Amino acid sequence: MDVLVIGSGGREHALAWRLARDEGVRRVRIVGGNGGTPAVGETVPDVDVRDVTAVARHASRERYGLVVIGPEGPLAAGLADEMASTRIPTFGPTRAAARLESSKSFAKEQMRRAGVATASAQSFTNPDAALAHVRAAELPLVVKADWLAAGKGVVVPETSEEAAVAVRDLFDSVAPGARIVLEERLTGTEVSAFALVSDEAVVPLAVARDYKRLDDGDTGPNTGGMGAFAPVPWFGQSALEGIAADVFEPIAWRMTRDGFPYRGVLYAGLMLTDDGPMVLEFNARFGDPEAQVLLPMLDGDLASALVGCAIADRGLMEGSLAMRAGAAVGVVVASEGYPDAPITGRLVEGAEPSSAADDGELLCFHAGTRRRRDGRHETIGGRVLTMVGRGPSFGVARDAAYRGVAQVELDGGRYRTDIASREVDSGLDGARPD
Ligand code: AMP
Ligand code: GLY
Repeated sequence: MDVLVIGSGGREHALAWRLARDEGVRRVRIVGGNGGTPAVGETVPDVDVRDVTAVARHASRERYGLVVIGPEGPLAAGLADEMASTRIPTFGPTRAAARLESSKSFAKEQMRRAGVATASAQSFTNPDAALAHVRAAELPLVVKADWLAAGKGVVVPETSEEAAVAVRDLFDSVAPGARIVLEERLTGTEVSAFALVSDEAVVPLAVARDYKRLDDGDTGPNTGGMGAFAPVPWFGQSALEGIAADVFEPIAWRMTRDGFPYRGVLYAGLMLTDDGPMVLEFNARFGDPEAQVLLPMLDGDLASALVGCAIADRGLMEGSLAMRAGAAVGVVVASEGYPDAPITGRLVEGAEPSSAADDGELLCFHAGTRRRRDGRHETIGGRVLTMVGRGPSFGVARDAAYRGVAQVELDGGRYRTDIASREVDSGLDGARPD
């Protein structure tokens, strides 16, 4: 079959790379794309990712066997809804179902009704009422925008004064009537859990760890993610099955019952607290950079599983997917000035993008890059690429990833040096522990 991937990040390079390696896939094309994706598939010219009608028209004309929607923007814009009339299996939830990500208050309400453990929260449209709530709270509350804020919608303040500032800033940044959520702050370790969900059917995929802060030791500002690894040796397969039973299945059932059946990958951001795992957020897509470490570890016929998920064919979705033994470690190289004001337009060398034929220890997925006419790459965004190392242990995978990073030449380029270092130092290997 021919597959169309929508999006332009490192996640989409990894998706296109992984799908292009499937036996049943003849070719992959990409709407959006980046400087690296031409190594795995042609970029569709003249179709704008943001134009859902144009994307659906193109897909229909080219008769793809599968359309895979990578980022949240097109989901919230209703691309999956638009695709329904084309009858092309489309991987990604409808706009109504994608509210699990695009509306924090909707997600909270669904969790409450499904009995899923999450931080207690209240939502507000009135700034004064929100500020009064902040003042009355004993501990500083987490402040969240109830709209898609491209990673900038969550503030975790240290004091209630900071919380009040965050509330005012958020309300100042949107039109009157917008809603914010004030949430109890949880403490613990964060992991990202992924499952394919098709109506009530759930196939747990894997757990990954993302590094959201810019600098080593989890310091500095929040980013889209500076690195990741999978699997998580201290949160194994049986723990993931617990999350399937306690989180994914009840939510899938609730969504179906309420008339918003969910079809796509569901990503639960979990806080592992002293009282057990609690959901911080849902995303209606693969994480970035989690996808870059998860997809290269996933064996089996991915395209068929995604078709199965799209058309609610449980057998096809369960199919042959399995995480391979070992570990993958991904290190993001970002532009100088990221995340506040990334400097772009700089040359990137030593970062040959992975093609479908590459299946070695080191993979390179591009993100904020563009291929120039002379074939060289230049930066156009904050996160430039993810170097992914794979191996039988975290040590081997991590060494490979950092070997790749060391080859990258980018003026002012920055990266964390401590991705998976704790796992390596403690001698944990990637074999599935339980
Ligand atoms: P979210 O987009 O909801 O995942 O929030 C982004 C980040 O903010 C999360 O990955 C956490 O690090 C942090 N965060 C969100 N909600 C909470 C909470 N209730 N308690 C503590 N930290 C949180
Ligand atoms: N890595 C976090 C995200 O994709 O939202």
